Amino acid sequence: MAMQRVDRLDVTSSELKDNFLPGMPDAYVRECCREEKTGGQHFVIEMKQGFTVAAGYNSASMDIYVLEGAFMIGDDNLSVGCYTYIPGGMNCGDWHSENGARVLFFTNKAFEYFPGQEGEIDMEAGDHIPVMESWKLSWADPMKDIVKKSTWVNPDGEQDRPPGVLTKALRKDDRTGEVIALTALSPGFIDPGTEHHPHNECLYLISGDAYIGYTYDHERKDIKEDLVLKKDHYIGRPPGIRHGPVCTQSGALWLIYLSDMYTGLYTDVADWETRVGGYLAAANYR
Ligand SMILES: [Fe+2]
Repeated sequence: MAMQRVDRLDVTSSELKDNFLPGMPDAYVRECCREEKTGGQHFVIEMKQGFTVAAGYNSASMDIYVLEGAFMIGDDNLSVGCYTYIPGGMNCGDWHSENGARVLFFTNKAFEYFPGQEGEIDMEAGDHIPVMESWKLSWADPMKDIVKKSTWVNPDGEQDRPPGVLTKALRKDDRTGEVIALTALSPGFIDPGTEHHPHNECLYLISGDAYIGYTYDHERKDIKEDLVLKKDHYIGRPPGIRHGPVCTQSGALWLIYLSDMYTGLYTDVADWETRVGGYLAAANYR
């Protein structure tokens, strides 16, 4: 199942829609992307001061990450940097934001909320993850066990993987392989090749900057060059979309959605040094 291809979307400039979410008509939403077969959605809700929704349940499972502000679900306080996973059908307390919030949602099918009703948990949906304060998690480098070699060459002249990527796993579903994670790229990080994946890979840039030299499909029909991403930019990638070289000047903090455990396939890019050097020499985000 493939996500829509979104090479770079400035989410803050995508249309602010109300009456978009069934059962939450007062929620103002900026849509990122949609998965055509499942109806799964990625979007940001902009909760205004005093946002309120009655207790109920959603037939879709929700990954929820707070980008800005704070809100409550029942007695749970979700402030910026908090994450929770609510499986489809699970009963939620009432929703309330006193001072407003911007909240990122990933759903596994079309969002449909039933205020004032009781649901039944979707047994296929994986376990509930209570509200997690992501700043309390430790950064880890799981990629060192997953990626042994890319097109990067280390100072000893050996093929290796470029250091400088750290991750905090928020959810891993052993049955579906889905992964939701925070991923940080160190300032000055460079990955010289392209990679692509047999799974969907979607990224929301929470802070920082990123440069992507090439983005293209396997037939090279639709090629984008020199994409620059900043805070609140989003990428949706179906399987097979090549992307790279990648670099960042000030560092990048992403929230990442993978529809299956990470698998990367790497290809050399002949002019990566010129591309990356051109960006890093000119970009000014410090
Ligand atoms: Fe990737």
